[in-house]
Amino acid sequence: MPKTALQFRHNGRDAAIFVDGGMSLLAALRDEVGDHSPKLGCGQGGCGACTVLVDGEPVLSCITLAESVAGKLIETADGLKNGPDLHPLQTAFMENFAAQCGYCTPGMLMAAKALIDRNPAPSRVEVVEAISGNICRCTGYEPIINAILAAAGRVERRA
Ligand code: FES
Ligand code: FES
Repeated sequence: MPKTALQFRHNGRDAAIFVDGGMSLLAALRDEVGDHSPKLGCGQGGCGACTVLVDGEPVLSCITLAESVAGKLIETADGLKNGPDLHPLQTAFMENFAAQCGYCTPGMLMAAKALIDRNPAPSRVEVVEAISGNICRCTGYEPIINAILAAAGRVERRA
């Protein structure tokens, strides 16, 4: 099968790869770019483990055609830290014990980043809404919600 040349920005760098027709963005990132931070969960758009940002918007990369991101800006959890410095979301996830197995975490982080990039002071309801497509089988969600609120500088006290 002929391959198609594809170029985009990946975490601040130019990426140039070849993809098969019909290849998902998730497969392209993991297998061709070598970025394993987006995870394959359900592979059907139902769990959010594969969430990345395309031009700042959260996208389920398992059901996004790789060819559709030509020339666009892709952000993944692998690009969150700045040298040795963690992104505030990563620090808050650690401090709030918001990860156990960690499989959902890259997708959670990216869904949260999309939220606080456009809304630096989200409400708890807005946080819940932002991660409503991301499934976690471990933490019970409260630590994740608290971490996102902490990262946004808005820790809410539960009654
Ligand atoms: S792996 Fe993409 S939504 Fe589950
Ligand atoms: S930390 Fe295990 S699925 Fe979320």
